[in-house]
Amino acid sequence: MLPKKVEELCNRQIEREGYSSNLYLAMASWAENKGMTGIAGWLYAQADEERGHMLKFIKYLNERGGSALIPEFKQPPVKYKGIDEMFKEVLKHEQYITASITDVLEAAMAEKDHATVNWIQWFVKEQVEEEGSVQIILDKLSLAGEHGLYFLDRDIMSLRG
Ligand code: FEO
Repeated sequence: MLPKKVEELCNRQIEREGYSSNLYLAMASWAENKGMTGIAGWLYAQADEERGHMLKFIKYLNERGGSALIPEFKQPPVKYKGIDEMFKEVLKHEQYITASITDVLEAAMAEKDHATVNWIQWFVKEQVEEEGSVQIILDKLSLAGEHGLYFLDRDIMSLRG
C-alpha cells in the first residue's frame, strides 16, 4: 500500500508538473509572437514532456492504490523581459522541480516504500538532464549576445537531450 505521505507528495507533484507544462506553453506562445519560432518549438516540446511527467505521476498513483487528483492550475506569467531572463526562469523552475522530486524520494525512503524509491529514479535522472540542457542554452546565450540569438533560435532543437 502506498504510504499517505508519499501519496500526498505525488499529488503535489501532479500539480507541479502540470504547471510546468502550462508555464512552458506560456513561454512558447510569447516567444512565437516575438518571431522566435525555434525557441518556441523547443518550449512547446518541453511543455509536452512536462504533461507526460504529470501523466506518469497520475498513472503511478492509481496503479499503487492511491488516488490521483487533478488540480486547478494558476495562470503562468504572460510576458517575459527577454530570452535570457526567460531561460533563467526555466532553470530556476527546474531546480525547484528537482527539489520537489527529492522530497518525494526522501519521503519514500523514510516510509521504506522501496517501489517508489525505485520508480522515482527515472525522474532523478531526468532532472539532471533537464537542468543540464537549460544550462547549456544559458551558456550559449551569454556567448552569443544579441547578434547570435538568430543562430540559437535556428539551432536550438539540436540541443534537446
Ligand atoms: Fe518535469 Fe521539467 O520537470
